[in-house]
Amino acid sequence: MADLLAKKPLNLILEESQETGEHSLKRALGPGNLISLGIGAIIGTGIFVLTGAAAAQYAGPAIVFSFMLAALGCVFAGLCYAEFASMIPVAGSAYTYGYATLGEIFAWIIGWDLILEYAFGAATVASGWSGYVLSFLQDFGIHIPPALAGTPGAQFVQYNGRWEALGRISKTLAAHNVDPSSLPHATGVFNLVAFFGIALMTTILVIGIKESANLNSFIVVIKVTVLLIFLGIGAHYILRHASLASANWTPFIPPNEGEFGKYGISGIVRAAGVIFFAYIGFDAVSTAAQEAKNPKRDMPIGILGSLVICTILYILVAGVLTGLVKYNTLNVPDPIAVGIDQAGVRWGSFLVKLGAICGLTSTMVVMLLGQSRVFFSMSRDGLLPKWFSQIHTRFRTPYISSIFVGIFVAIFASVIPIAILGELVSIGTLLAFVIVCAGVWMIRRTNPEMPRPFKAPMVPFVPIMGIVISLLMMVGLPGDTWLRLIVWLVIGMVIYFGYGRHHSRVQVALEGRKTE
Ligand code: ALA
Repeated sequence: MADLLAKKPLNLILEESQETGEHSLKRALGPGNLISLGIGAIIGTGIFVLTGAAAAQYAGPAIVFSFMLAALGCVFAGLCYAEFASMIPVAGSAYTYGYATLGEIFAWIIGWDLILEYAFGAATVASGWSGYVLSFLQDFGIHIPPALAGTPGAQFVQYNGRWEALGRISKTLAAHNVDPSSLPHATGVFNLVAFFGIALMTTILVIGIKESANLNSFIVVIKVTVLLIFLGIGAHYILRHASLASANWTPFIPPNEGEFGKYGISGIVRAAGVIFFAYIGFDAVSTAAQEAKNPKRDMPIGILGSLVICTILYILVAGVLTGLVKYNTLNVPDPIAVGIDQAGVRWGSFLVKLGAICGLTSTMVVMLLGQSRVFFSMSRDGLLPKWFSQIHTRFRTPYISSIFVGIFVAIFASVIPIAILGELVSIGTLLAFVIVCAGVWMIRRTNPEMPRPFKAPMVPFVPIMGIVISLLMMVGLPGDTWLRLIVWLVIGMVIYFGYGRHHSRVQVALEGRKTE
């Protein structure tokens, strides 16, 4: 019987990671590209959309502390990812780390779990992206029929001559005492905008890693600039209206209203669980390890560099935003635009739409990239069909894997209402963090002599803290999300026992070694 806990030998993993030639991935990325990939994945819906609701409903101005708490969990996990990624620089990321340390069945679970982060993450983001694109194009007089910008059943209303998703505009309507039922209505049929977005990103990913990285870097510059402009305008306004800001920041931690998560300390924790989504993505850098020129040195730089830059930006943005406007007015889909409006800048909402569209575009690129690389690695190990690891001889990309992921995500984003899946993305990612942290701790004990170009400090304190904080944020997520995670993992088990277990190439290699 196949050994469910068979571990993939480290020397085999390292041999595979050093392959060269037309059947291997192309090593084209330097440290700058890797940091940019991380920022590309990280800055997206989280900061542009979720910050407002989390501050308004849970934490108040103390959302700043929520960002710090979530960052702390990510830094602990990021240090563990950095150690693994420099030690075992392979495309499979957490999946391969799990294979090397915990055994095949755990590797499968992580690989399957990463689909929640990368594929579902890309689909969730594509859905939000289409709303912004619809709105942005209307700014230029280009009108797409709303039926083609929403999943079946999604509601749109026409307000001030523009079609807007009801979910996005309902709070604005309420603020202006407009009854949505009095406005012209349309219903989504197929989200062609999201479909097209994913198809475009997939095409670029198939064409080349360098091309994808260049596109990503271009977009990253735009979205970081948008956040910096917001910070500049906001800080300038706050300095000139110090008393207003200090009133908005008081009380900094609104007292708890008697219910867990409704302000107070528990509110900070709950908001951290929500805005954790904003940090997701730095780990995706590790899936580009086989495409990095010098992964041993540059992986930690990419993972930790992008995380640190985004953490600083996020804390500043959250602080400035809650200084500009009273937190209880921030439960809107475009809180950063509300902040800029307050500062008297009329093109604020245009700027934010631009930032959000760019933000979400590069998040999609990197998530799609991550997913195809994880499938690539799983397929090389035999746990998925062979064609997933087919490399295009000219482009040197895992093109079939990329196209498969692209089609799956595009269909998913265009026909399934996926707003609900955002939390599933978070719980899936947190589970991967827990396993990676546990893996680092374990491999320090089982293979202490192995060269580690980057060593996470204070082991086991750092991995333990990574596990504890990730679990804390998982606990903060609703019971339904846990249930969905369990259902997803059960489906994964069925596939593993029906397919992967019988095709595992690692098992075959191990058997071969035993009989030699
Ligand atoms: N961190 C990414 C975002 O906020 C997933 O959209």
